[in-house]
Amino acid sequence: MSFVRYKAIVEEGDVVIVYLTHESMFPLTLEAGRIFQTRFGALRHSDIIGKRFGSKILCGGGRGYVYALHPTPELWTLTLPHRTQIVYTTDISMLTLQLDLKPGSVVVESGTGSGSVSHAVIRTIAPTGHLYTFEFHQQRAEKAREEFSDHGLSNLVTVTHRNVCTDGFGLSDVADAVFLDLPSPWEAVASAKLALKKAGGRLCSFSPCVEQIQRTCDKLRSHGFCDITTIECLLRTFDVRTIALPEPDLGQPDSCVQTRHEGSETAQSFTFKSAVPPKDMPGHTGFLTFATLYPQVETS
Ligand SMILES: C[S@@+](CC[C@H](N)C(=O)[O-])C[C@H]1O[C@@H](n2cnc3c(N)ncnc32)[C@H](O)[C@@H]1O
Repeated sequence: MSFVRYKAIVEEGDVVIVYLTHESMFPLTLEAGRIFQTRFGALRHSDIIGKRFGSKILCGGGRGYVYALHPTPELWTLTLPHRTQIVYTTDISMLTLQLDLKPGSVVVESGTGSGSVSHAVIRTIAPTGHLYTFEFHQQRAEKAREEFSDHGLSNLVTVTHRNVCTDGFGLSDVADAVFLDLPSPWEAVASAKLALKKAGGRLCSFSPCVEQIQRTCDKLRSHGFCDITTIECLLRTFDVRTIALPEPDLGQPDSCVQTRHEGSETAQSFTFKSAVPPKDMPGHTGFLTFATLYPQVETS
């Protein structure tokens, strides 16, 4: 199983994302003989094993169906077991670009949390890069290590149980990029600088509060980081809806007015499809602060 490359056929032991609706998805590790209960009834793991990823699978004896999707970092972020607050795909896509991550990049991250960012970073830096991820909560570190192994990612990631604010990363001159998602990221800036390659690199810190950013920016500046920028990413999605409107009362027929009738039964109303923004939009998640460390040259 791999979150890095697609495969065609589902095998026992694979993770599939069971898709019921856009709002209802579950990760499932397949074991022949087991049953997963859905709102459409029982879904037998054996009915998924051997099918192509993306297949429609009947459940509840034909009462409904689900799709068996291939796991990706984006779907994992939507379905993973939450052990902490997590960073979502909108922020992850921005940090991936701004940190200039690519195959072969070496990345240092803390904290690991629920592994949402880690999975996306690993996919981007594979097959030759490496993620060093640090977590000071022992069970979270162990669980993350276990998940990476189950997902076939162990060779691309090293999980270390450590308090990086007091004990640093213990790495020097190795990283192309550092990502911090910590309550007090400013306490990790000195060791992040040490971990970055002497040839230079990028740092990103994710924080919900502006006070955290102010302290982090001060620390970044005093440690020689340049090009310090903070942004907030807000995503606006649209729902496609079928809208029914009453026929407008235009008085006498007017040859200039044309009304589209799409499947409407009567002359009193007409329907059309439209994309509308949802009433409630997800708001603030956090601020992303980016900074560059330029090559460190010895001056005499
Ligand atoms: C918000 S979570 C990170 C979530 C992660 N970015 C994700 O998307 O899944 C913050 C994590 O940092 C860890 N943490 C907090 N302070 C730390 C420290 N000083 N050293 C290492 N990890 C720390 C916490 O235990 C927690 O798991």
